Amino acid sequence: MRTVTVGFLGCGNIGCGVWKLLNEFKDDLLHRSGVVFDIKRILVRDVHKKRDAVVPENLLTTDPAQVTDDPAIEMVLEFMGGEEPATRYMLRALEMGKTVVTANKMALALNWHILQEAAEKHGSGLYYEAAVCGAIPIIRTTVDSLMSNRIEEMMGIVNGTTNYILTRMSQEGSDYAAVLSDAQRLGLAEPDPTSDVEGFDAAYKLSILSSLAFHARVPFDVIYRQGITQVTAADIAFGKELGYTLKLLAIAKRQGNVIDARVHPTFIPDSHPLASVNGSFNAIFLHGHACDDMMLFGRGAGSAPTASAVVSDMLYAVSRETPRHPTFRNSDKLAEGLTVTNDWRCSFYVRLEASDRPGVLAHITTCLGNEGISIRNLMQRDAVNGRAQIVLITHDAGECSIRKALAAIDSRDARVESMIRVEAKA
Ligand SMILES: NC(=O)c1ccc[n+]([C@@H]2O[C@H](COP(=O)([O-])OP(=O)(O)OC[C@H]3O[C@@H](n4cnc5c(N)ncnc54)[C@H](OP(=O)(O)O)[C@@H]3O)[C@@H](O)[C@H]2O)c1
Repeated sequence: MRTVTVGFLGCGNIGCGVWKLLNEFKDDLLHRSGVVFDIKRILVRDVHKKRDAVVPENLLTTDPAQVTDDPAIEMVLEFMGGEEPATRYMLRALEMGKTVVTANKMALALNWHILQEAAEKHGSGLYYEAAVCGAIPIIRTTVDSLMSNRIEEMMGIVNGTTNYILTRMSQEGSDYAAVLSDAQRLGLAEPDPTSDVEGFDAAYKLSILSSLAFHARVPFDVIYRQGITQVTAADIAFGKELGYTLKLLAIAKRQGNVIDARVHPTFIPDSHPLASVNGSFNAIFLHGHACDDMMLFGRGAGSAPTASAVVSDMLYAVSRETPRHPTFRNSDKLAEGLTVTNDWRCSFYVRLEASDRPGVLAHITTCLGNEGISIRNLMQRDAVNGRAQIVLITHDAGECSIRKALAAIDSRDARVESMIRVEAKA
C-alpha cells in the first residue's frame, strides 16, 4: 500500500464531490490501485462556510502556501475556478514538483502552455480530464485510445446549461428568457450565466479538445464564438418542421493544414446521434481516419460526475512512472503551419420577413445566386399585415458568401431575421 498526500485548492461543488468519492470509495480505490489518498490541507475562502461534505475544519486554510508549498503534499487538486489566482497557485505547485489535477477549463485553456512548460521543467504531472465534459473520458480517449487516428472532425455538446435551455425551448416551445430564469431558479444556470450562454465555456473546452485532437495548439482566441441568447422559439419550431434539432455545438474540423474551430447554435438533422442528447447531458461526436465515426455521451457536469474524472486522473497519475504531456509544441499561438479559416462551408438556415408582393422572392434568390448559393428547402407562411415569413435552407455554401448574400438581401422588402448554420451530415 502506498499513501499519497493530497491538497485541495477549493472545496465547493466539485471539491466536496471529490472529498466524498475519495472517502466513500476508499476501500475500492485501495483495492484497485494499491493507493490511499490522504487529504492533508484544503484551501478555501471562508473556513466557517457550511459545505456539502463533512470536511473537518482543521483541514481548511485560507493560506495557499499551506497547500502549494508543503513538501509533504505530493498532489494538488485544483477546483477553485476562474483564471486567477488558480493559475498562479497551480504554477507554484508544479514548480514545487507536485502533480496537479485540475477541473478548471478556463485557466487551462488560457494558460496551458505556461502550465505545461512549468510541469515539464520541474518533472511534475498535469492532468485535466475533469476540465472537459465532466465524467466523459474524452481527454484520455483522444490522447490514448485514438492515438492511432488522424482526427478530422469533432462536434460536441459540451455545455450542459445551454443544452438544458435549448432542450426545454424545443420541447415546450418556450422563449429563451423564460427557460433561462427557470434554469437559474433550479440551480442549473449560474446567477451570471454569461460564460455558458455566450459560449465562452464551450470555447475553452473546444480549445483544449481540438488541440489534442489535431495534435497542435488551437488557442482560445482563434475560436469563433456565438452563444444562444439570440435563439428564438420560432426558429426552433421552423427547424423542427424541416427535420432539424437545434444545439449549441463546439465544432472543429481539419482539412490538410486548414482548420476551423467554432461554437455556435447549429441545426443538425433529427437523425444525427447528437440530436437526441437532451437536458444537461454532454456528448462528443468525432471522426477519425481509421476509427470512423464515434460518439461519447454522459454527464458533463455535476459534483459526482466531475469527481469521477478527477479521481480517475489521480489514479492515472500515480500509475505512471513519469508524467505525461502532449508532445505538440504548446504555445499561446496557433501551431506553425496551420491556418484558421472563417470561411467554413456548411448549409445555412435563413429566416426572413418579407413584403408579400411580386419580385421579392426573386430578389432573395438573385442575391443568393450572385454568391453561388442555391436553395435546398424553402417554406413560406401566410402573410400577416402584408409581411410573410420565409424560411430557407441552402445547399453547402461558404460562410463569407452567405454573409455577403444576406447583406445584399436585407432591405425594406426583405428583412433577415436570423441565420443559423446547419451541419447536415447524419
Ligand atoms: N460545477 C460543475 O459541474 C463543474 C464541472 C466541471 C468542471 N468544473 C470546474 O470546477 C471548478 C470549480 O467549480 P465549482 O462548481 O466547484 O465552484 P465553487 O462551488 O464555486 O467552488 C469554488 C471553491 O474554491 C474556493 N475558492 C475560490 N476562490 C478562492 C480564492 N481566491 N482563495 C481561496 N479559495 C477560493 C471556494 O472557497 P469557499 O468555499 O470558501 O467559497 C470554493 O470552495 C471550476 O473551474 C469549474 O469550471 C465545474
